[in-house]
Amino acid sequence: MKAALTLDTIGACVFDAYGTLFDIQAATARCAASLGDRAARLSRLWRAKQLEYTWLRSLMGAYADFWQVTANALDHALEATEIRDPVLRSRLMETYLRLDPYPETRGMLRRLREAGMRTAVLSNGSPTMLTSAVSGAGLYHLIDDLLSAEAAGVYKPHPSVYQLASDHFDLEPERICFVSANNWDAHGAAAFGFATVWIDRTDATADILPGMPAHRIEGLDALPGLFGV
Ligand code: LAC
Repeated sequence: MKAALTLDTIGACVFDAYGTLFDIQAATARCAASLGDRAARLSRLWRAKQLEYTWLRSLMGAYADFWQVTANALDHALEATEIRDPVLRSRLMETYLRLDPYPETRGMLRRLREAGMRTAVLSNGSPTMLTSAVSGAGLYHLIDDLLSAEAAGVYKPHPSVYQLASDHFDLEPERICFVSANNWDAHGAAAFGFATVWIDRTDATADILPGMPAHRIEGLDALPGLFGV
């Protein structure tokens, strides 16, 4: 049975950033005219390598901040797609500092905040990247805290990253609702003990990993409804 989310039992809603609150594909799309028919492949490869490098660096005990990991992943993707244009590279990196939120992000946060819920971001992003994305999107007043994996020196889904939110709010894991559109992140958070919601925008095939998200919804706009607000 699905664990009920209630305003009494859940003390904070904690959100993944990239792909959950912010649309990273739309960012690459801004450079579509320069990328031509390689845009989709570059975007997919950039994100895949970015995540892969976070996992590999975590296993290697070789943490580097998310800006560097993102740049390394982009350089690999540019090489693989045979794009050699330093100005375009800079423009692509800068998209990470001014990402568009998904259309439903703002309204969803407002509804939760009006119901008295505390909100935070818990992301692999470096503090500078998160501050820039959140303030650039005009979401600062709707998010109480920005928590970065940088404080743990390792990336999600390492439990010590999820622990940052539990410590920050001084709440047992089951009293935190963690929300991610990255299925592997939702599994990691559920395995840690968070009440987890997987945002499945694409009707994806679920991963088979430890930890079972308590809820699977199609978009962020359905989240407040899980709390009855
Ligand atoms: C993040 C990545 C996983 O924001 O999307 O942490």
